[in-house]
Amino acid sequence: MKITKAVFPAAGFGTRFLPATKSIPKEMLPVVDKPLIQYCVEEAKASGLTEIIFVTGRGKRAIEDYFDTSVELETILKKKDQKEILRLVSNISEDLQYVYTRQKKPLGLGHAIWCAKNIIGGEPFAVFLSDDIIDSKVPVMKQMLRVFGKHPSTILAVQKVPGKKTHMYGIIKGKKVGPGTYRVMDVVEKPKKNPPSNLAIIGRYILAPEIFGAIENTMPDGHGEIQLTDAIKILLKTQDVYACEFSGERFDAGDKTGFLRANISFALKKPEIRDELRRFMKKLVS
Ligand code: UTP
Repeated sequence: MKITKAVFPAAGFGTRFLPATKSIPKEMLPVVDKPLIQYCVEEAKASGLTEIIFVTGRGKRAIEDYFDTSVELETILKKKDQKEILRLVSNISEDLQYVYTRQKKPLGLGHAIWCAKNIIGGEPFAVFLSDDIIDSKVPVMKQMLRVFGKHPSTILAVQKVPGKKTHMYGIIKGKKVGPGTYRVMDVVEKPKKNPPSNLAIIGRYILAPEIFGAIENTMPDGHGEIQLTDAIKILLKTQDVYACEFSGERFDAGDKTGFLRANISFALKKPEIRDELRRFMKKLVS
């Protein structure tokens, strides 16, 4: 069973980055020189996925424009012989097929994924949350697809988090079945106390198509949102779910500190700015 489709929910309001996100989608905020969402699209491509499905909402046109071919820009860059920049700009849309669908109201992550139901049909698919950008040798989705190869079912990406942060995540109760692989027995959304483990669900999923039925049976939470974790809990009643503890450094770029950390970390990898940035930071803390 080959997975080719990846859903990118991008219809949230991005309130933590207001006022910037009043007119710029959060997913388009740049980490150094690339929008957050491009890091994830590149991860999807490097993992062998070919169809990118964006679930967008009001004010998200910038995402569609970004992944479209810009004929005028490419013509100008060709004329100016700016080959390297041309390569960067045209690579964005190469080899991938982009599909767009809308979530009319931000009714939660579960609902956003459900909006892709007709495009997905009856096959398993990947989900990427652009808030989480992960720097890893092997793309995280590729690591998850390996687990899927052994256990063709729903796979959650998980990472150990400090005990004092478990209340911020969906946490799994799992039984280790192999290196970095867990059979999921239960999931608890943002446990206030007694978390079942410190393995937190991070923004990458491989979902069985039965998730759509589970979402339809999920009640909205106290904020009127349909949460994916609640739908996974329903799925668990009838299907196996596994978790992949991935290797890589993850940045929660949906949070201001995480976003700044990602910028610094990725900038320090760029030879053309690394030294100057290091000098600047040294001066700041001295
Ligand atoms: P978040 O929980 O980070 O929400 O969504 P948000 O609106 O993007 O940001 P804050 O918390 O208000 O600052 C996680 C992912 O799910 C998508 C978001 O676009 C983001 O990629 N999402 C969330 C939707 O597509 N629709 C929703 O109704 C909610």
